[in-house]
Amino acid sequence: MTQDEMKQAVAQAAVDHIQGRLEDDSIIGVGTGSTANCFIDALAAIKDRFAGAVASSEATAERLRGHGIEVFDLNSVNVMDFYIDGADEFDPYLNLVKGGGGALTREKIVAAVAREFVCIVDQSKQVDLLGAFPLPVEVIPMARSYVGRQLAALGGQPQYREGCVTDNGNIIIDLHDLEILDPKALEAQLNNIVGVVTNGLFARRGADIILMGTPEGVKTLRHA
Ligand code: A5P
Repeated sequence: MTQDEMKQAVAQAAVDHIQGRLEDDSIIGVGTGSTANCFIDALAAIKDRFAGAVASSEATAERLRGHGIEVFDLNSVNVMDFYIDGADEFDPYLNLVKGGGGALTREKIVAAVAREFVCIVDQSKQVDLLGAFPLPVEVIPMARSYVGRQLAALGGQPQYREGCVTDNGNIIIDLHDLEILDPKALEAQLNNIVGVVTNGLFARRGADIILMGTPEGVKTLRHA
């Protein structure tokens, strides 16, 4: 099974996971990235079974609309049963690193509202310890140098992501070579640096369930 086929399999598994619990007025939170795109494509087959979606990026909103799925402003939504999204890394405690596609802030906001975060990944994203994937940090542009120095002081190697402007008009600094021993503490510590909008650690609100594509089929992972 190729990586693409594994992504399609977990996308379909996510649709199977939620479809029995959808109501006519349900709103679904939808993430960003290639696996989330597979989910959007699979979701289109049942688009008459729910009201619409909240998108975590402009790209996701465009793809949803392209399938005729209505996209709602998050501020008009009180209850969201599900948030479905990919990840760049996950550990045995379902802590995630996200933001490889630069959409981390909106992803974190939509995930915060949802009752259940269903994370969909292929098995290449599984690690024992987070940190091999560079940790994305979204930063207000004028704070770039200051935040870079603060990140370097933590022991990692900050690298400005050239040419990347987020949907919020900010920049991304990727933090390389940092072993993440306490994801919850680091998430809070990074968010306390002035000029940081948010960082790609999803530990305080990690995934509730992970659907992982493997050559043997989709595995369901819950908290260790
Ligand atoms: C987008 O900013 C990211 O958080 C993605 O969810 C993450 O990078 C996973 O993307 P893929 O599904 O393309 O690997």
